[in-house]
Amino acid sequence: MAVGTVLVTGGTGYIGSFTTLALLENGYDVIVVDNLYNSSKVALDRIELICGKRPAFYQVDITDEAGLDEVFAKHPEIDSVIHFAALKAMPCTNLAINHAQAVGESGEIPLEYYRVNVGGSISLLRSMEKHNVTNIVFSSSATVYGDATRVPNMIPIPEHCPIGPTNTYGRTKVMIETVITDQIEAQRRKNQKAGKPYEQWNGALLRYFNPCGAHPSGIMGEDPQGVPYNLLPLLGKVATGEREKLLVFGDDYASKDGTAIRDYIHVLDLASGHLAALNYLREHKPGVRAWNLGSGRGSTVLEMIKAFSNVVGRDLPYEVVERRQGDVLDLTAHPALANKELKWKTQLTLEDACADLWRWVKNNPKGYRQDPPAELLEA
Ligand code: NAD
Ligand code: WQD
Repeated sequence: MAVGTVLVTGGTGYIGSFTTLALLENGYDVIVVDNLYNSSKVALDRIELICGKRPAFYQVDITDEAGLDEVFAKHPEIDSVIHFAALKAMPCTNLAINHAQAVGESGEIPLEYYRVNVGGSISLLRSMEKHNVTNIVFSSSATVYGDATRVPNMIPIPEHCPIGPTNTYGRTKVMIETVITDQIEAQRRKNQKAGKPYEQWNGALLRYFNPCGAHPSGIMGEDPQGVPYNLLPLLGKVATGEREKLLVFGDDYASKDGTAIRDYIHVLDLASGHLAALNYLREHKPGVRAWNLGSGRGSTVLEMIKAFSNVVGRDLPYEVVERRQGDVLDLTAHPALANKELKWKTQLTLEDACADLWRWVKNNPKGYRQDPPAELLEA
């Protein structure tokens, strides 16, 4: 019998697919809902190849409340939701021309970000309420903190660091955290009053730092539909020769080598963090809690280029250009709360993430649009 049944929104996407895999590997049944806006159903094939199980799948948009209602009605066994589905592409549309002045996508089409991210989350919560599903794990982001190096400097960042997102995308995350918190508190008050304290709503707001890496098998990884924006996928493209060089956005930050610092976390560690949070909600029924999911270790852009160059076996070319608008000096997590309460901490290193990413990129230059090499499938 399954440990539980989880509805995963955005379950064919990058982090959602790895979390779906981890859930199936740990005895959960999984129902995936995704509109495939930034992903492909091939992710489900790869999950099945790796663990021998396949989640149920529904191509539904999270803003379609009736569509969500149908899924919940069809699966009354769902007891929890992990909510990944969102718009998160942040490329500057004119990146190649002038990245410094460009506004990220969320700043160019804010209404679409608020409609999908905030509106979609409200539809999901409404549907959960109708179907009496009371546990939600939400994909938040370290972006909610904005610049934590302001006075007082709060690096490494604890959960009580003041919130201050610097872009529309980050503001959608703060709004969704607020909507979830208000809903959970209202439901808990209602259930207390009705003498049903055991029917409590619970929520985990997971603030991820910089997810990266791929599955060590080399057959599952990040496969966004458009142009990549994040540092490691771009380094992958430089390594395969698809890009001539990496543009390093600024070397005049107050760090040891002048480049910005981030806390890179392997996607397998991130997936296990979701399991830990879900188990915590089910066991402790804590109401709503925020946890940072990061390693606690910061790396500069130049250190990342070096780490990735090491696994590729040659120096990858780069050129320092001006800072990217909206970037901050340092986003490094203080993960002590998650370490203690969730009994979770990162297990994999930066070198693991780079090696796994390189294995994925080198063997699957077209991502999920081509079959992986036979030797990887046989392994
Ligand atoms: P992703 O784009 O790979 O996954 C998101 C998934 O949601 C995709 O499969 C997409 O098709 C789906 N989706 C988008 N709009 C939808 C809609 N209206 N209805 C149904 N499905 C929809 O992104 P990811 O990197 O896996 O991110 C997952 C979550 O984690 C997102 O909420 C993102 O904001 C958050 N997050 C990501 C990062 C990161 O750097 N990757 C960092 C912090 C937080
Ligand atoms: C990392 C570092 C860049 C590309 C973003 C979102 C954040 C979260 C994670 C969703 C920075 C530098 C990058 C390049 C570079 N996503 N860089 N050249 O900006 O920390 O976070 O993804 O929640 O919200 O903002 O990640 O990978 O883009 O950048 O020098 O070509 O690499 O300036 O210092 P970021 P990133």
